[in-house]
Amino acid sequence: MPAEQHGKQPQQLSTLRCSLLTLAILTLLSFTFLSLKYSTPQVSVANFLGDTKEISRTVEQDGEDFSDIYHSPRVFKFNFAEMENKFKVYIYEDGDPKTFYQTPRKLTGKYASEGYFFQNIRESHFRTLDPDQAHLFFIPISCHKMRGKGTSYDNMTIIVQNYVESLISKYPYWNRTLGADHFFVTCHDVGVRATEGLPLLVKNSIRAVCSPSYDVGFIPHKDIALPQVLQPFALPAGGNDIENRTTLGFWAGHRNSKIRVILARVWENDTELDISNNRISRADGHLVYQKRFYRSKFCICPGGSQVNSARIADSIHYGCIPVILSNYYDLPFNDILDWRKFAVVLKESDVYQLKQILKRISDAEFVALHNNLVKVQRHFQWNSPPIKYDAFHMVMYDLWLRHHTIQY
Ligand SMILES: *[C@@H]1O[C@H](CO)[C@@H](O)[C@H](O)[C@H]1NC(C)=O
Ligand SMILES: *[C@@H]1O[C@H](CO)[C@@H](O)[C@H](O)[C@H]1NC(C)=O
Ligand SMILES: *[C@@H]1O[C@H](CO)[C@@H](O)[C@H](O)[C@H]1NC(C)=O
Ligand SMILES: *[C@@H]1O[C@H](CO)[C@@H](O)[C@H](O)[C@H]1NC(C)=O
Repeated sequence: MPAEQHGKQPQQLSTLRCSLLTLAILTLLSFTFLSLKYSTPQVSVANFLGDTKEISRTVEQDGEDFSDIYHSPRVFKFNFAEMENKFKVYIYEDGDPKTFYQTPRKLTGKYASEGYFFQNIRESHFRTLDPDQAHLFFIPISCHKMRGKGTSYDNMTIIVQNYVESLISKYPYWNRTLGADHFFVTCHDVGVRATEGLPLLVKNSIRAVCSPSYDVGFIPHKDIALPQVLQPFALPAGGNDIENRTTLGFWAGHRNSKIRVILARVWENDTELDISNNRISRADGHLVYQKRFYRSKFCICPGGSQVNSARIADSIHYGCIPVILSNYYDLPFNDILDWRKFAVVLKESDVYQLKQILKRISDAEFVALHNNLVKVQRHFQWNSPPIKYDAFHMVMYDLWLRHHTIQY
């Protein structure tokens, strides 16, 4: 027995042990004393630990579940809290507020995400009026607003170019990093066209856009895919209602892209997939289109003019698993969320096997996808004022991840 062996050890050894122990205790005591006396370096450690505790407590209180849908749940949770504490954005004040720059055009419709971002950043604590405090600089170009005023594409390009060039010559901030710590936000596709006059802007600054396709110059590690959300939603969020989801797959819309034409041609008469190549109109009955989302397991989201469409956010809101059918794009929050946990992500060429692919998904897999979908709903919703983990905060988080420039 180890205890007996210890007992039989010579007296000398045990004295040595005794003095070693005393020494250790003395060392510990003096360290404690010193650290209390010179507590400055300890403060940051204590704060750090305090923050961590704070985070886990918040998480427990909210009953937050970070398990399934994130690439790195713990990294997200920790970095998000850091962002909330530290992130500061400076908004250029120039530009006539009544015309193009400062105020959102509206908070409804297909491009509502742009209006919400403009409104949210002003009402959030991320805004700083001191450029020296700023991690990033927001160039408030609202192409949606210009479009609403009937400005021609050519004029828009000129307006954006003049505006940004005036900021570059008036302020020292752009030139410090050649715009790497600057960003702009456009949901309307005209944003792509409107910024053509200034290749520097597109190449160097962070673009948050609803058109994250690589063929229109979206740069995945620099730019951000803005979710396209048509708010307000006509009906409440779906979820925990799988017994009502009896249709395998649903799509109704315009055939305004090659993939949509093929989708309609291949599946329009199928008895299990509910595919119609005409938009459902009001004449069909009140909110018939939205109610179809409640009744379907999978909602097909083929790219139109852009992969990103309000259909993806609609599917998420109504609890219908989005089936992404597009090539070469970034999905919103792709670097934070693992889309395969709550969506089916396919290539365009999979359209011919669509039904077989969906039927191969087991009931258990479907239930898992559905439960995860409910968990991501809050990330695809805009609020005014913004609330934690909503679409605005996710966009801010993506911006925070990209703010790695160093200034001297
Ligand atoms: C474009 O700009 C020109 C010159 O400022 C102006 O005369 C014209 O009316 C503008 N057109 C539109 C559609 O905005
Ligand atoms: C920034 O650089 C551009 C191009 O070199 C220059 O025209 C502009 O005046 C500079 N801005 C400032 C504030 O110095
Ligand atoms: C299923 O549909 C029926 C009829 O529309 C509705 O009354 C019921 O609340 C739905 N069930 C769930 C769980 O949503
Ligand atoms: C679907 O049915 C319509 C009407 O019967 C027919 O005109 C069309 O060719 C059919 N489409 C396919 C792909 O079979």
